[in-house]
Amino acid sequence: MTAIGIHDLELTTTHHVLDLAELAEFQGIDPNKYHIGLGQDQISMPAPDEDVVTMGAAAAAQIINRNGTDGLRTLLFATESGLDQSKAAGVWVHELLGLPSHVRVAEFKQACYAGTAALQAAIGIISRSPEEKVLVITSDVARYELGSPGEPTQGAGAVAMLVSANPAMVEIEPTSGVYTDDVDDFWRPNDSTTAVVDGRLSVRAYLDAVVGSWEDLSAQNGPSAESLERIVYHQPFTKMAVKAHSHLARHTGVDLGEGGLETGSVYNRRLGNIYTASLFSSLASLLDHEDGLAGKRVGMFSYGSGLVAELFTGIVQSGYRSAPRRERVEAMIDARESLDVESYRELHSTHLPSTQDVETPRVSKGPFRFAGIKDRARFYQRTGN
Ligand code: CAA
Repeated sequence: MTAIGIHDLELTTTHHVLDLAELAEFQGIDPNKYHIGLGQDQISMPAPDEDVVTMGAAAAAQIINRNGTDGLRTLLFATESGLDQSKAAGVWVHELLGLPSHVRVAEFKQACYAGTAALQAAIGIISRSPEEKVLVITSDVARYELGSPGEPTQGAGAVAMLVSANPAMVEIEPTSGVYTDDVDDFWRPNDSTTAVVDGRLSVRAYLDAVVGSWEDLSAQNGPSAESLERIVYHQPFTKMAVKAHSHLARHTGVDLGEGGLETGSVYNRRLGNIYTASLFSSLASLLDHEDGLAGKRVGMFSYGSGLVAELFTGIVQSGYRSAPRRERVEAMIDARESLDVESYRELHSTHLPSTQDVETPRVSKGPFRFAGIKDRARFYQRTGN
């Protein structure tokens, strides 16, 4: 059987950052509730001229620069920060990157799980046509109401992945455990810019989904718990991965060790929740911070509220450290411009009218910007940066 999986991966985030110590001070609470209790240090925050398209395009552009477009016939865009009820955000990315017209585009949605659905669809396409490549883009802006318990778990970012046969980074194994249940733990109604969430229920639902996915993986004769060298998790906040890991260890009765929880959360601690991109950011963090993983099996747990979950596995390939991604990602994270709490709250409360023409201010420094709305249509620009 042809090995299929992640050949290349790139991570991007926003122009702005808010330090959670400043948010805690403003709220008059102990910052350790965020640093230790939730395991989060900062949240990325988009400038007015950034969105899921500009972040996704910036990540994907680096992949295209390194790999070209040979064999690329599909772009799958996964997000729960949808910009239009009809048009796939990936069509704007297609235009910004100047991709050939014979690259088809579609958008995937099921909360934070959608990136995994897109990855599995990509693998399906390549199973049928092994010479083809698929660009999977996961991009999101996590936004909760000001003053709500979810506020410190906001964030924004994108991960783009090139999926191909004989991948250089991670071969995705064919067996996975899936779990679906209709639960109202978290959702975003069409007329709302922020998510509605029952936080306590969402944590319980996540843990139930870990067990449900594990049970299905076992029923499909998937890999044993003992063979999982590392496990990366969807991270709405990094402490959630710690809770999930010990829950899985208790359920299986297997000592899963530390499992890469720390190395797999370096980026996530500083980006916040990036919904569909969170699991893949954790995978990037793990691979960028550990030597000697080639040939080892990594478990990946994907959770999307509502809910759909999947536990799948991959074998790390020998080329996984060949791109010096860690330096690039750290430099990008460090370069974000700090917001004070007042500016953050103002930015959070700013909403563009969709019924009148508007031009956004030039703030971001990335290669692409969201320039505004004309005749009710969004338009984007290449900045030349
Ligand atoms: N020092 C150290 N730790 C402290 C502390 C202090 N001073 N004060 C509190 N803590 C600890 C608490 O003990 C608690 O730890 P445990 O969970 O280990 O008991 C932790 O900090 C959080 O405290 P609370 O439970 O009191 O926090 P909260 O109720 O204010 O908010 C939350 C927590 C409900 C998860 C909230 O952040 C939220 O609603 N987040 C959004 C929803 C979410 O992320 N759900 C996760 C699963 S759903 C999912 O994964 C999909 C998705 O992406 C949204």
